[in-house]
Amino acid sequence: MDISNRVGVITGGASGIGRAVAVAMAKRGVAAVGLVDMNDAVGEVAEKLNAEFGRKFAVPFKGNTTDEAFRASVFDSLSSQFDRVSMCVPAAGITRDELAVRIDKATGKARIYPIEQFKLVVDVNLIAPIYWALEMIGRIAEDRAAKGLKRWTPAEHVQGSVVFVGSISSQGNRGQVSYASTKAGLRGAAATIMKEAMFHGVRCGVIHPGFTDTPMVRSMGLDYVDKNILPFTQLGRLIQPDEIADAICFMLANSSVSGELWVDAGWHAPA
Ligand SMILES: NC(=O)c1ccc[n+]([C@@H]2O[C@H](COP(=O)([O-])OP(=O)(O)OC[C@H]3O[C@@H](n4cnc5c(N)ncnc54)[C@H](O)[C@@H]3O)[C@@H](O)[C@H]2O)c1
Repeated sequence: MDISNRVGVITGGASGIGRAVAVAMAKRGVAAVGLVDMNDAVGEVAEKLNAEFGRKFAVPFKGNTTDEAFRASVFDSLSSQFDRVSMCVPAAGITRDELAVRIDKATGKARIYPIEQFKLVVDVNLIAPIYWALEMIGRIAEDRAAKGLKRWTPAEHVQGSVVFVGSISSQGNRGQVSYASTKAGLRGAAATIMKEAMFHGVRCGVIHPGFTDTPMVRSMGLDYVDKNILPFTQLGRLIQPDEIADAICFMLANSSVSGELWVDAGWHAPA
């Protein structure tokens, strides 16, 4: 699939992997991209990208990805200014890491991972990305239905693609019971959407990045990275966001790719 001249939407676009995907898309000639983020910095990030590439390519949208009205307004705005959105990379994500069960030394009582915290991580990392993808697929399906088109055929060319951002933690990672559950959940969602959405001509896959040099990982502290991450990473370094972005663009563009791609620098979880 030629991704140039298409319109994309990236959530978590103000930072780390999302921002790097926007840069990679600009280099590949994508017509426009909606940069969605709850962080104020999203406006400045879009401005800088537009200045760097000398065209009005990145459009900032500040808001929470869990807000349904906001999500619809982003798609409305992009399709009215440019064209139908046909690439979706819902990368916004959070961590709320804590052991699933631990004994409080002072009281001897078990502390179980707080359920409200778990639900928040599920809302942001699992439900929201799925619904950003479904919003795009729904709009493509409606457009096709309005033209009297039924089951998609290969002669029509691929209509759109989704790449979910999973994680190596989906295989299980100590201290990440909520995060790992959501990232594993994306695997089931991607496999199901791939089977269903091809009716409308839309592909769906999931990338599993290893530890990548972004604010999310830096917030763990570089000492932690040296002691607990690099020894289990065959490459002996953090992955750069542009390496993940390159792999995401490959997944978006290469129509024969389906399923999951592990971009993990050879990481294996310690027991
Ligand atoms: N950095 C890594 O090592 C790594 C590894 C595997 C997977 N991932 C995944 O990659 C994605 C991007 O992570 P990153 O490392 O670039 O993190 P990051 O913290 O640098 O960027 C995440 C962005 O998402 C935004 N965001 C979070 N919740 C939001 C919400 N509800 N609404 C709108 N915006 C929201 C934040 O403001 C932030 O700008 C995440 O899904 C993360 O789980 C990261």
